[in-house]
Amino acid sequence: MSDLIGASTAAQPRSAPVGEAAPLAPAAAIILAAGKSTRMRSKLPKPLHPLCGLPMTAHVIRACRDAGVERVVVVIGHEAEKVRAGLGSDVEYALQEQQRGTGDAVRAAQPLLADWQGTIVVLAGDVPLLPAETVRHLIAHQQATCAQATLLTAFLEDATGYGRIVRDAAGRVTRIVEEKDATPQERAIQEWNPSIYAFDASALWSALTAIEPNNVQGEFYLTDAIGVLVGRGARVEAIPAADVRDVLGVNTRVELAACAAVMRERLLVKLMLSGVTVMDPRATYVDVDVEVGQDTILEPNTFLLRGTRIGQDCMIGPHARIEASTLGDGVKVLASQIVESVLEDGVRVGPYANLRPGSHLGPRVKVGDFVEIKNARLEAGVSASHLAYIGDAEVGEGTNIGAGTITCNYDGFQKHRTVIGKRVFVGSHSTLIAPVTVSDGAFIAAASAITEDVPGDALAIARSRQVVKLGWAARYRQVHSQQAQVKTPTAPEPSESHSGQE
Ligand code: UD1
Ligand code: CA
Repeated sequence: MSDLIGASTAAQPRSAPVGEAAPLAPAAAIILAAGKSTRMRSKLPKPLHPLCGLPMTAHVIRACRDAGVERVVVVIGHEAEKVRAGLGSDVEYALQEQQRGTGDAVRAAQPLLADWQGTIVVLAGDVPLLPAETVRHLIAHQQATCAQATLLTAFLEDATGYGRIVRDAAGRVTRIVEEKDATPQERAIQEWNPSIYAFDASALWSALTAIEPNNVQGEFYLTDAIGVLVGRGARVEAIPAADVRDVLGVNTRVELAACAAVMRERLLVKLMLSGVTVMDPRATYVDVDVEVGQDTILEPNTFLLRGTRIGQDCMIGPHARIEASTLGDGVKVLASQIVESVLEDGVRVGPYANLRPGSHLGPRVKVGDFVEIKNARLEAGVSASHLAYIGDAEVGEGTNIGAGTITCNYDGFQKHRTVIGKRVFVGSHSTLIAPVTVSDGAFIAAASAITEDVPGDALAIARSRQVVKLGWAARYRQVHSQQAQVKTPTAPEPSESHSGQE
């Protein structure tokens, strides 16, 4: 796991590289995502493994889009239809029928981009931490230097597994050698290839015609295109990545977890710098695009998932899981789950509440322990403090829902609505059998089973009357103790007989 201090430095705006200020000429991108990714050992194709709420390759697509790339072509092959469905229709797709290497994969995109003039960025779909500004920088450098190719490079003390950058005595890049094809001396090289390049389109297509599968894996290597271009005397530029973590690839689930941790840190650092208190950043989980307002406090074990927006001065957690929901200002959520719901200002939830999709809590609503709400609107000031199920319902302003209240919304075939008016008192352990309406100001006696509408300001009691039989309990105990003496010859000690376990 990377350290938080380092991540905060990485999140600072970087100084603009030379050429970045100038407007970029249009660029296209080819994202390689056709491989089988055996090392993930997963039924889910690698491009779809999620990090912070988005599929891995969706992060790469975003980086390209945010960098201003005009056309994005994703090369798919292994589980092509699943990957296409998972990544959506905002990009173009090229099919690589057989996975014969990264060079072959780029060629699969050629028919779609045959007419493209100028810059083509080529990158793998498994570098989810790549920032848009790095892509911009790469394109800007390529265009400013009029190179045929520009590659990003990075350094690691031990670059095992990666292709290594081979330079000549003058320090110029000559080629890239894959780990499996490298000599022991080449394996000692610490500069490696993150597989993120910008090419001039015509140089790319012509270099790809010259590559051969003359290597240990018998594949067409995209990396060989660099050697081909250098051999032809073309200008090939290499620029170091600003932060090695920006270009880390995911090949195993160990690397997936490491990249997800870095991404999370970056998101949390952004939130903290914008005025959110995060009590323990190592135990707080925030997805991309989640918004949190100033002076809100996130306690440990809080999960803020995709599509969540939280206002100012809220207290969230510990142990809160909030997904695709909008919370106003001054909301408190303790140890609860909230999904696809809206909570207005000053709402208090938990501990142990379950707000399912379609819950709308008006200002200052209080929902306490073991309360489940689904597809229901609770207006301002409603209180359901303990042990209730409110489903398919409307509850008017200021109404009190007693402990144990259940809306019986389902008859085994259909769902029905319960409508409760303003300032209604629903006594504890009431059962409201929908469809049913309880009008404003009504009072429902505890333990009622309400099957018919209750008019405004009325009292409804729907339970059998209490019967009291004087002396009954004493007689009952006496009969039982006489029977016990007859059955058990060795009667228990008096102290034991008062243990209450008979
Ligand atoms: C590749 C680079 C290596 C670099 C490393 C960085 C080559 C030959 N090697 O190696 O220099 O250090 O990335 O992570 O390019 N893919 C296809 N079709 C194929 C094969 C692969 O689309 O036929 C895709 C994969 O889905 C993946 C990407 O290309 O997204 C890279 O393939 P991968 O097998 O992960 O390459 P590495 O061995 O990591
Ligand atoms: Ca890889």
